[in-house]
This record gives sequence, C-alpha cells and structure tokens, in this order.
Amino acid sequence: LAERLLTGTRVLLTAGPTRELLDPVRYLGNRSSGRMGYALASALGHLGAQVVLVSGPTALPVPKVAESIQVETALEMRAAVMEQVASCDLFVATAAVADYRPAEPAARKIKKDAEELTLRLVRNPDILAEVAALTPPPFTVGFAAETDEVERHALAKRTAKGLDMIAANRVGGERGGFERDENALTVFWDGGRRDLPMMPKTRLARELAALIAERYLERHVA
Ligand code: PMT
Repeated sequence: LAERLLTGTRVLLTAGPTRELLDPVRYLGNRSSGRMGYALASALGHLGAQVVLVSGPTALPVPKVAESIQVETALEMRAAVMEQVASCDLFVATAAVADYRPAEPAARKIKKDAEELTLRLVRNPDILAEVAALTPPPFTVGFAAETDEVERHALAKRTAKGLDMIAANRVGGERGGFERDENALTVFWDGGRRDLPMMPKTRLARELAALIAERYLERHVA
C-alpha cells in the first residue's frame, strides 16, 4: 500500500496539448494525448494530494481529481494556472503547450483562394517559467520533450527556468513519448538524477509521483 505522503498538499498539474486557433474551424496542435499528465494526476492523487488538473483537449476520461479545468489555448491554460497557483504547493507542467500562436486568427473560415498562404505566428507566454518566477514559487516540476541531446537540453531548461525538478523524455522515436501507452523518463534535480526506464505510463507516473513526493518533502518538512 502506497504511503499517503502528499496528504494536505495541493498540486496544480497541466496536461495534454493546446490548440491555437487559425479560424473558427482550424487550429495548430501537437501530438500530446494527455496520457502522461492524466496518469500523473491520478498517481499524485493516490499519494493523498489534492490535484487541480488544467487540461487541453484530449479524448481521455477525466481522472478522479479535486478539480478539473478544461481549456483549449495556451492563453486559456495560462489564465487558469495563474488563477489557481496561489493556493497550490506544487506545480507540475506535463502539458505540451504551443510555443507560438497565429498572430491574427481569422474571424471567418479561411477560403482556399490563394495558391500560397503565409501564417504569422507570435510567441506564447511560457507558463512554467512564469510560475517558477513567482515569489514565493511553488515546488516546480517541468518536463522536457526532446528529439535529440535530451540530457543537455533538459538540464539547460531546468537552469533557465529555475525549476526544482525536470523530467526529460525522448519524443519522435520508435518507442515512448507522445500518444503511446509507454514512456521512459530521466529526472534531474539539484545534485541528483534518476533513470526511469521504458514502462507503461501508469506505472511510470507512480514512480515519478513517488520521486516528486520524496524531493518535495525533503525540502518542505523539517
Ligand atoms: O500526452 P502524451 O501523449 O502522454 O505525451 C506525453 C508528453 C510527451 C507530452 C510529456 O511527457 C511531455 O514531455 N510534456 C512536455 C511537452 C513539452 O511541451 O515540452 P517542452 O520541452 O516544449 O516544454 C518544457 C516545459 O515547459 C514543459 O513542462 C511544458 O509544459 C512547459 N511549457 C512550455 C511552453 C510554454 N509556453 N509553457 C509551458 O509551460
């Protein structure tokens, strides 16, 4: 029986993709299914945490959590996170948030008159970096989805955003990453790392949740 290590803590967790609207019928999206984030929300809940899930559109049933907020775009996800974060002890960013959005979404369906169409994109805010910069920040756990040089990019992201922990995964390969039922993670924190090998996302989520609880409690319980 898992110990309920996180009883009395509130965890804010993002999951799934965001959709960046081009016009009323089209969007720019990504391949996140929400599986990793939903499994992690459940696993943290099993450790006793009150989980507030902020999720982009997925085809998954919503896991049993204290609160579930469904959003579509990165800007909506940021607004929901900023509204909830003050009451939370931990922030876990599993979502695949679009880095860019169309600069001027069309009010009506774009017609196929032109031979070529150029889209102008503008940067979205980095929700995780904004949360980590709050004073005081919650305990922050980010993800890094990389196709190459996974460790180097993940370590750079942890430092640049000032995160307590980062869970790195390889995407775009034969196994693991987006959409699939299995994944592998390498988790980094100040002075430590743990390799969690390829396994079903439900089991991986339980191992990651236990590791997060361990690091968080080490920091916050005297
Ligand atoms: O949903 P699945 O199909 O199960 O796939 C799981 C997953 C591959 C999506 C997941 O394991 C994962 O890696 N999630 C993070 C995806 C991502 O966008 O990584 P990134 O390296 O681009 O972003 C780094 C971190 O910053 C992430 O924690 C991300 O949530 C956060 N971020 C990024 C951009 C942004 N504008 N705001 C953010 O908060």
